[in-house]
Amino acid sequence: MKKSFIFVFLVLTHRLSTQDDENVYLKFSTGLKIGVGGAAYQIEGAWNISNKGESVWDNFVHNMPWKIEDQSNGDTASNSYHKYKDDVKMVKRLGLDYYRLSISWARVLPNGSADSINQEGIQYYHNLIDELVANGIEPIVTMYHWDHPQVLEDMGGWMNESMATWFAEYAEVLYRELGPKVKTFLTINEPQILCFQGYGSGIMAPGRDLGTAGTYTCGHNMLKAHAKAYRLYDEKYRSIQNGKLGIVSHCDGYLPETEGETLPLELAYQFRCGWISHPIFVGDYHQVMKSRVAQLSRDEGLSESRLPQFSPEWIRYIKGTADFFGLNHYTSFLVGFPTTTKQNGSFVLHDSGLLVRSDPRWEAGSLKWIHIIPEGFSSLLRKIKSEYNNPPVYITENGFSDNNKVQDHQRIKYHYLYLKELLQAVKRDGCNVQRYTFWSLLDNFEWSSGYQHTFGLINVNMTSPGRERTPKLSFTWLQNVMRMRQLQLPIPSPSVNTTTNHQ
Ligand SMILES: *[C@@H]1O[C@H](CO)[C@@H](O)[C@H](O)[C@H]1NC(C)=O
Ligand SMILES: *[C@@H]1O[C@H](CO)[C@@H](O)[C@H](O)[C@H]1NC(C)=O
Ligand SMILES: *[C@@H]1O[C@H](CO)[C@@H](O)[C@H](O)[C@H]1NC(C)=O
Ligand SMILES: *[C@@H]1O[C@H](CO)[C@@H](O)[C@H](O)[C@H]1NC(C)=O
Ligand SMILES: *[C@@H]1O[C@H](CO)[C@@H](O)[C@H](O)[C@H]1NC(C)=O
Ligand SMILES: *[C@@H]1O[C@H](CO)[C@@H](O)[C@H](O)[C@H]1NC(C)=O
Repeated sequence: MKKSFIFVFLVLTHRLSTQDDENVYLKFSTGLKIGVGGAAYQIEGAWNISNKGESVWDNFVHNMPWKIEDQSNGDTASNSYHKYKDDVKMVKRLGLDYYRLSISWARVLPNGSADSINQEGIQYYHNLIDELVANGIEPIVTMYHWDHPQVLEDMGGWMNESMATWFAEYAEVLYRELGPKVKTFLTINEPQILCFQGYGSGIMAPGRDLGTAGTYTCGHNMLKAHAKAYRLYDEKYRSIQNGKLGIVSHCDGYLPETEGETLPLELAYQFRCGWISHPIFVGDYHQVMKSRVAQLSRDEGLSESRLPQFSPEWIRYIKGTADFFGLNHYTSFLVGFPTTTKQNGSFVLHDSGLLVRSDPRWEAGSLKWIHIIPEGFSSLLRKIKSEYNNPPVYITENGFSDNNKVQDHQRIKYHYLYLKELLQAVKRDGCNVQRYTFWSLLDNFEWSSGYQHTFGLINVNMTSPGRERTPKLSFTWLQNVMRMRQLQLPIPSPSVNTTTNHQ
């Protein structure tokens, strides 16, 4: 009697769960917060007013305009410095939980020195944050999104270990000023990208091409800077302000070039994502990275490894300096060991020795490296779960680029599939994802790609002095999603709808 009852119960619940699978993965998990983001240099404009200092990006676009695809710059950008109230209205209309903004270091500390705070500069951020709070939107603050003061670059920038001290002094200004209103701080955005492209290859500000040695030194000093800022918060501010702090890693997903091969996936992960995450969540650089770079450096006849070493004190000091895993994720790649036949369109992932490429059959965005591969996202989330004992994960960026489309069906499809994959990772695999950030609110200055590639939910007319905003189709879609806190089917493309109407 009892047995058969249990049997029937099991059959029923099994049936229910398979039938409901789809719907289960459409409903937002409890506690999942949804927001949208932007970065100071990409949206603010107002580069030279109210005593703002010159940043490395101001310097870069003015002195090396040929490094920007359309020779444009962020002098005015989306003009959010003047139109921030409009931005906040838009976030409110979307019904989102939070807005991720970044602070322009040079606007707050024009001289780089924490002794001379630019009052007008810090006031702008007070105004923006107050406006958000008044509208029931939680502010999440990135302290540094790539635009440090040029005066600090003139003293070596991230090649100079003193940068860690300068960053911590800047962080303290932000804790003191904004900490009473801000409960989540992100220290540094994407060391992986900034170090590689700003100091390794020079395609981004400050435009220095120092190879992997420069890249690693930059990452090394950033890890120290991040840890100093975190420890300072622990010592002086956490007990009063009670906020959360973390760094933002840029991690791609990886799929094996050869079915079943796992070593390339592990190497690719550790050389890109693990480079920054391992010292923070486990301690020190991962062994595979230390030994491979040391070996390659010896082969090159160098007396020491291009990857700098941490002292035992620094290893201990950096370890544990994150209250969550901040993750920027856009796309995935195929990885494998080189074969004799060179594969088209592939590149070597720095010292990992791996060839990395995209499958030409994958659906692409306007930027040639972005493809819609949602399964790579969930496998990355499971990797982070197993690698670091399931830390809280904040997706701090996820987005898709096109060429200025207002009817942005592909963007909707991308976010639908990625969010669904995220909900599966949470509900089925137990990944502890607590935030998901759409990137970005506005079309803006897309770094070296200028204004040719857009990520926004809102179109901005960049040729008009008024920088008028027009919500895209994805904006309307997200409004509906937020109303239900449940994914809605992507709106069919116009041609599909037209066909239906004619029948
Ligand atoms: C600020 O920069 C703009 C170009 O973006 C320029 O036209 C203007 O003269 C500059 N203003 C000052 C005060 O330097
Ligand atoms: C920055 O440095 C200059 C020159 O050293 C000084 O005149 C100025 O007061 C300092 N502070 C600011 C906020 O510019
Ligand atoms: C690094 O900064 C210090 C000041 O803390 C300065 O004395 C030194 O010259 C800088 N190093 C380089 C390489 O610019
Ligand atoms: C690689 O590119 C060349 C020239 O563009 C083309 O002929 C060849 O078929 C490509 N090979 C593969 C494997 O895609
Ligand atoms: C953008 O603004 C310019 C100048 O005001 C105007 O001529 C143009 O029609 C606008 N573009 C769109 C798509 O509204
Ligand atoms: C299809 O087009 C009709 C008529 O223009 C419109 O009312 C309807 O909302 C559209 N359906 C979808 C799903 O977009």
